[in-house]
Amino acid sequence: MVSYKDLGLVNSRELFQKAIAGKYAIPAFNFNNMEQMQAIIQACVETKSPVILQVSSGARKYANQTLLRYMAQGACEYSKELGCAIPIVLHLDHGDTFELCKSCIEYGFSSVMIDGSAHPYDENVELTRKVVDYAHQYDVTVEGELGVLAGIEDEVSHETHSYTRPEEVEDFVKKTGVDSLAISIGTSHGAYKFKPEQCTRDAEGRLVPPPLRFDILKEIEKRIPGFPIVLHGSSSVPQQYVDEINKYGGKLEAAVGIPEEQLREAAKSAVCKINIDSDGRLAMTAAVRKVFVEKPAEFDPRKYLGPARDELKKLYMHKVTDVLGSANKA
Ligand code: G3H
Ligand code: 13P
Ligand code: ZN
Repeated sequence: MVSYKDLGLVNSRELFQKAIAGKYAIPAFNFNNMEQMQAIIQACVETKSPVILQVSSGARKYANQTLLRYMAQGACEYSKELGCAIPIVLHLDHGDTFELCKSCIEYGFSSVMIDGSAHPYDENVELTRKVVDYAHQYDVTVEGELGVLAGIEDEVSHETHSYTRPEEVEDFVKKTGVDSLAISIGTSHGAYKFKPEQCTRDAEGRLVPPPLRFDILKEIEKRIPGFPIVLHGSSSVPQQYVDEINKYGGKLEAAVGIPEEQLREAAKSAVCKINIDSDGRLAMTAAVRKVFVEKPAEFDPRKYLGPARDELKKLYMHKVTDVLGSANKA
């Protein structure tokens, strides 16, 4: 058993309280490899933002649990070396069993999500409570979820949203003892959140999807004032990356994400953690494809992963500064 405190990490408790009071959100960026981790840390050190390094169960299998422990410790040391010891959380994304959450805690995670949202309400409460009881012994924070997002996560796909029911949140928070709550108000996982035919066009001709259900968010805030809320599925799917991927030989269909203005608005509320994975995937893929097309003779991985890392860093700096508002809050 290794304590996250010995790795230099922090849990999310204090970060969330400050984020709610300061009307911004902490970025939760998913990562699977060294270049993604470097881009996240470089971007957040340069903007002086706290950050949540987020690992899905698939990412954990991909990267290896032991390597991840050292990568997280390395991230803390790296941020110091870059000149600013920003607060870093290592968080399990969409944990689906007690055993997985326990194992992550034993390997140095400072925060875990137990996602029981696909279970009936009482089973979700029971599973979440069990994880909270274990995690809190080690001062590890726990995120639970109520309501189901449409889209795909860890190979489980849901066709439609079931929005969080505001009348359940108070009871859930009280019974489980969770530290934060992920809700469903119209975001979804992956690049294909909305089809063009579900959207209208703005003055500049950009596709605008149906707005998030801020009415549900407000109702939730009324029932659990000041309680940390999490938004999953918050990629905006920048059109420029979709176009570039397709220009350089990719085959993405028309994809529409969550407009950044809506995320900025959400970040000013009790939403204090915003999850972004797909936008990073698009940025990396666009950059790698460009090198492959423009320099087909190149075969040194640093020559395509390096530009991908630079593009990712640019994307994360933009998110932190212009969307989440967490710059200079470290
Ligand atoms: O919500 C899911 C995240 O985007 C992680 O995706 O399970 O493919 O690593 P993944
Ligand atoms: P996106 O697919 O919108 O990036 O969402 C990521 C996420 O919610 C990870 O838990
Ligand atoms: Zn998610």
